[in-house]
Amino acid sequence: MTGGAGYIGSHVARILSQNGTFVVVVDNLSTGLDSRVLGLPSLNLELSDASAVAALEQLMREHKITSVVHLAALKQVGESVEKPEEYFSKNLGGQANLLTAMKNTGVKKFVFSSSAASYGVPDVDLVSEGETPAPINPYGQTKLIGEWMAQNAQTAWGLSHVSLRYFNVAGAGWPDLADTQKLNLIPIVFAALKASTKPKVFGSDYPTPDGSCIRDYVHVMDLAKAHVAALDYLNQESRPHSVFNVGTGSGSSVLEVMDQIKKTTGIDFEYDLVPRRAGDPPRLIADVSRINKVMNWESENSLVEIVESAWKALN
Ligand code: WQD
Repeated sequence: MTGGAGYIGSHVARILSQNGTFVVVVDNLSTGLDSRVLGLPSLNLELSDASAVAALEQLMREHKITSVVHLAALKQVGESVEKPEEYFSKNLGGQANLLTAMKNTGVKKFVFSSSAASYGVPDVDLVSEGETPAPINPYGQTKLIGEWMAQNAQTAWGLSHVSLRYFNVAGAGWPDLADTQKLNLIPIVFAALKASTKPKVFGSDYPTPDGSCIRDYVHVMDLAKAHVAALDYLNQESRPHSVFNVGTGSGSSVLEVMDQIKKTTGIDFEYDLVPRRAGDPPRLIADVSRINKVMNWESENSLVEIVESAWKALN
């Protein structure tokens, strides 16, 4: 798997290993930590380098790889707007190299880490996979094009693929695999609490019950299990779909997340209500009926477990 030393990737790698699957990790360690994949064979590799194709082919032959789970990517929306070329060359160039190596070595099963960012700002409350994707930033565009790349490989040379569109992933399955980057709401609030600063709520005038944005927060362990389900699905003969949402099907507002953090941490902190952040849809919740029905997967954890596990991992 690629990106196996990252926050999400390391959960997927550990769950697969615990289930008895042999996992080889490829990661450039730009944000990944090799401490998360101790004991697993791993290769430090930048997928978008031209030399990566030969290195991947060698690795796939050496370890007799049969499936690839591809998570390695740059994933910061704001940064992608500043540096679109880097996002296109790293995310898409890396994926093109990976698919080339798979084609050349006959590896035909592929699980791709896609994102709810591929939807853009849908004007429905519950987003299903049938919604027309309309990403509004280069990051989301690379995820949508990544899905298309895999789909084209399916047509051209028989790749079997699943793209998982992750919603808001948080929590920790093991303390050593915690999200150490402070890029998303829950880790940002924890960092503010540690620094005794006030967290910010972006927007309190949205057309939602409490005025703050609503998101579908999914526990990283549940998400990791969705990858196991996706790999099983690739072994089935009948595969009616290749794109699946991964979420819980229910939403929490930013203020509800703040309240849960207060309960979990026991810290009665204050927050600042600040103006809206550009590009935030008011409400983004996954319709998860497809993955429920087709892969028999559903999330088991709620916001309570997400916040508690994330907090415990940091303390
Ligand atoms: C969640 C909510 C913010 C920080 C992003 C990407 C998406 C996917 C997940 C990778 C929003 C609010 C945040 C803060 C706040 N990424 N917020 N104060 O934007 O829903 O999704 O991460 O695949 O593609 O777009 O996640 O965690 O940034 O924000 O009020 O300090 O919290 O406005 O409503 P987002 P997030």
